[in-house]
Amino acid sequence: METLTVALGERSYPIHIGAGLLERAELIASRLPQNKVAIVTNTTVAPLYLARLRRALDAQGVDAVPITLPDGEAYKNWDTLNQIFDALLDNRCERGTTLVALGGGVIGDLTGFAAAVYQRGAPFLQVPTTLLAQVDSSVGGKTAINHPLGKNMIGAFYQPLAVIADTDTLATLPARELSAGLAEVIKYGLIRDPAFFNWLESNIQRLVRREPEALAYAIERSCSTKAEIVALDEREEGLRALLNFGHTFGHAIEAGLGFGAWLHGEAVAAGMVLAARLSQKLGLIGADEVSRTCRLLSAAGLPIDAPELGVERYLELMGHDKKVRGGRNRFILLRQIGEAFVSEDVGRAALADVLGGPPVHA
Ligand code: NAD
Ligand code: GLY
Repeated sequence: METLTVALGERSYPIHIGAGLLERAELIASRLPQNKVAIVTNTTVAPLYLARLRRALDAQGVDAVPITLPDGEAYKNWDTLNQIFDALLDNRCERGTTLVALGGGVIGDLTGFAAAVYQRGAPFLQVPTTLLAQVDSSVGGKTAINHPLGKNMIGAFYQPLAVIADTDTLATLPARELSAGLAEVIKYGLIRDPAFFNWLESNIQRLVRREPEALAYAIERSCSTKAEIVALDEREEGLRALLNFGHTFGHAIEAGLGFGAWLHGEAVAAGMVLAARLSQKLGLIGADEVSRTCRLLSAAGLPIDAPELGVERYLELMGHDKKVRGGRNRFILLRQIGEAFVSEDVGRAALADVLGGPPVHA
């Protein structure tokens, strides 16, 4: 097991990464304020992993209330959030009952937000079971639900007590979901870690084949970058915005097509290509960097062509981005592969050109 730390003073917490960690319930039990948890999961993950986690918790003397939600991005909303509150209250869960998110990023984001507001704040813990959740969404304390007009528009910053990533769970992940997680892995290389981007170019097939050593390395390296950025800028006043590379476009794709039509990671992949092309349009990077980005994303099984929503619709959807300041969009651009920055200075013409341009081919 590898353990990293998100350094946030009194709210610091460990990220444990390794095989077989669902059985290591002492990692959970040792952090609980009381011997009761509510495990929030969904109809896909419950039959795979709920019993295993409950058995392990039982052996530690921890009482577990299961809460099983419908599966899918389309359920990351108020109705589902209320189902969590109903179950917590029905089962007399107190403010000291810890909410355990067992699942992907949708379950993690919903559970974290529920914990942030249940009885004005209950503890919570992340047990991510998708690659995307293990490299990104379980770390850093962003929690949210979607609004029909915009992605993740209602939520809170609320840090977990710990992140426990059992890499064995990735064995049951559908190939399309593994690829979606690889989009966020590639993002770290693009924004801050050029050596990792080079490593990914040489090792992408090992990741697609799920070689355990390659996956463990990619998860650790991704979490280490994320933990570093979150420790420096927890509430996204500056640096943390870089983690949104490709996301302004990606969130517009998700909302524009209807939540769930494209996976989050797929939308981010096509969004990162748009952001790279915008960077090229503005003279920051060359065609070669755009091609390398497209080739790596394609090799990871990801889309590189954004859907044709029309320039005006894209601009309308992007107006609901959380990075908008004073009515103006801010964009994460590339200065080179491995170096991103925030720009407030992107003209409509360049944007329209990229959004309305012909498809790219890797
Ligand atoms: P997801 O939670 O929808 O999970 C993907 C699918 O895999 C679901 O059908 C799920 O039930 C299934 N699944 C989960 N674990 C499995 C396993 N081990 N075996 C088989 N199937 C399994 O999607 P995701 O990609 O994990 O997360 C995407 C969400 O995360 C989006 O809502 C996105 O906005 C959010 N996100 C949040 C942050 C953050 O910082 N909070 C960062 C990135 C993404
Ligand atoms: N996934 C973006 C962030 O955590 O800031």
